[in-house]
Amino acid sequence: MKHLIGMKELSKEQIETLLARAGEWAKKPKVQGDSLSGRFVANLFFEPSTRTRFSFEVAQKRLGAHVLNFTAEASSTTKGETIYDTLRTLEAMGVEAAVIRTKQNGLFEELTDKVGLHLVNAGDGTNEHPTQCLLDLLTMQQQFGRIAGLRVAIIGDLRHSRVLGSHLHALPKLGAELVLAGPPSMMRRAEEIPAGVREMEIDEAVRTSDVVMMLRVQLERHEESVFESAEAYHQAYGLTLERARSMKPGAVIMHPAPVNRSVEIHTDLVECEQSLIFTQVTNGVAVRMAVLEQLMEGRENTWASSLATANF
Ligand code: CP
Repeated sequence: MKHLIGMKELSKEQIETLLARAGEWAKKPKVQGDSLSGRFVANLFFEPSTRTRFSFEVAQKRLGAHVLNFTAEASSTTKGETIYDTLRTLEAMGVEAAVIRTKQNGLFEELTDKVGLHLVNAGDGTNEHPTQCLLDLLTMQQQFGRIAGLRVAIIGDLRHSRVLGSHLHALPKLGAELVLAGPPSMMRRAEEIPAGVREMEIDEAVRTSDVVMMLRVQLERHEESVFESAEAYHQAYGLTLERARSMKPGAVIMHPAPVNRSVEIHTDLVECEQSLIFTQVTNGVAVRMAVLEQLMEGRENTWASSLATANF
């Protein structure tokens, strides 16, 4: 594995290996590793981010890397320099990995064979967000002890969600049942939905699923509003208090965040007992540590030696 571009490219075994290593790091949140000691990594975010950007930086620092944060507005990309030339420039300086968030679907396909750096997709347009998907999977595995056999409902703005884009590949590979609910105007095209993944009416999806994952309404990607008001959306497709009361015993609420409180999820549910939303954020660091180690070390036996010296 040289790059992490999407869950589409990962095998079940590769996903499980990453989750196992991330699970180890998640158990030791205070432990400082040194497997990337003295090595340079860069974070290039061409779209806003809080969770992904900062948790990558925390992960990189916990592995001992030198971290460079690229500010798009203050870079030569504003003078027309391409991302390819930017990456070749960083590579020429000795930077070994680049974490990139971009508006452009499929940007990575153009770059992977052309640059020597390791590339990590931190979200590309409406295509994929693989590290968010991995941290969601780790959170489910911690909660239920398994992913196979779970029913996971992903609800909301399905058309614009790169998180869904990754889960469409990952959850079926791991043996989970994925059901989708949302407004028809926000549904994925039929050809994007793999066999075995099905649409379900929202009340049934909430009532019967082990994981109820709500998605943010991505107002910035909508050309026109299809709902009269936030309240109208909330009643039709949000996780209302009444819908949450119908959830199965033991079922959990997830959301990749940022959250539009009381639009896709009632504000009182964000931090309720069934909510794993902030656990997801915590797991983001462990997952990103595992991904960076895997790409930059590339050997499980390196993990073993790093574990041995990490003084767990
Ligand atoms: N979930 C997620 O990607 O959040 P940010 O946009 O804050 O990184």
